Amino acid sequence: MPDRTVSIHDLKAWKGEQRRWVMLTAYDFPTAQILDRAGVPVLLVGDSLGRNVLGYDNELPVTMEEMLHHVRAVARGAEHAMVVGDLPFMSYQASIDDGVRNAGRLVKEAGAHAVKLEGAQLDLVHRLSDIGIPVMAHVGLTPQAVHGLGGYRVQGRGEAAQKVLEQAVQLEKAGAFSMVLEAMPAELGAEISGSLQIPTIGIGAGSGTDAQVLVINDLLGITEQPPKLAKAYADLRGTIAGAVTAFVADVEAGTFPDEDHSYA
Ligand code: KIV
Repeated sequence: MPDRTVSIHDLKAWKGEQRRWVMLTAYDFPTAQILDRAGVPVLLVGDSLGRNVLGYDNELPVTMEEMLHHVRAVARGAEHAMVVGDLPFMSYQASIDDGVRNAGRLVKEAGAHAVKLEGAQLDLVHRLSDIGIPVMAHVGLTPQAVHGLGGYRVQGRGEAAQKVLEQAVQLEKAGAFSMVLEAMPAELGAEISGSLQIPTIGIGAGSGTDAQVLVINDLLGITEQPPKLAKAYADLRGTIAGAVTAFVADVEAGTFPDEDHSYA
């Protein structure tokens, strides 16, 4: 990692060098600090905040105020990582002005270095890029369209692949600096990645993308029912339950607090 904030140029250069990298979601200060110090170059404050932290059924209820609150916390914990703030549902779909204003808030008021938005919002991507707000695009399974898609389903199978590829090419032309490819056949993930100059970040899009992203709660084993595309590298749900059970047992037995944890 460079000894400064990771920039859009670093990510582009890494694509040229065929260097693979990761993005992880983060929603709070300590997690951002741990991931930053572990060398994760890009932290996404995704609207997955809704399901993973706020207990909503899906991403749709997440508000701008909630996003701002969590992007601020993550920005405070990130020393070198690029912080990407997700534009939540209906913060940019109604008009370009809405999108510009809300993207500006994520950067100006919360300290994001870039914003992410879903779907083929070509005019908005163009406008934000002109203003100097880097845009991470997102195609394939776009959770803000969950009802329109009829559920969280794999996208771009069969004939639908061409449409996703075209969307990706148009978003790159509009000025996106990178692109999330979510839940699509591995062949399509590789084809899009090979067709674009900008880096692609896959989640359930196979191993042929330039980078990979996971939701931190899935990676750490906090999510109760993780999706097929996620891999748990730890069992924090079990670890937390074990620690709490041990604390309860100590208190009930009168062994905590002991002398080491008491003031004379
Ligand atoms: O909101 C989010 O966390 C995302 C990632 C899963 C890419 O969009």
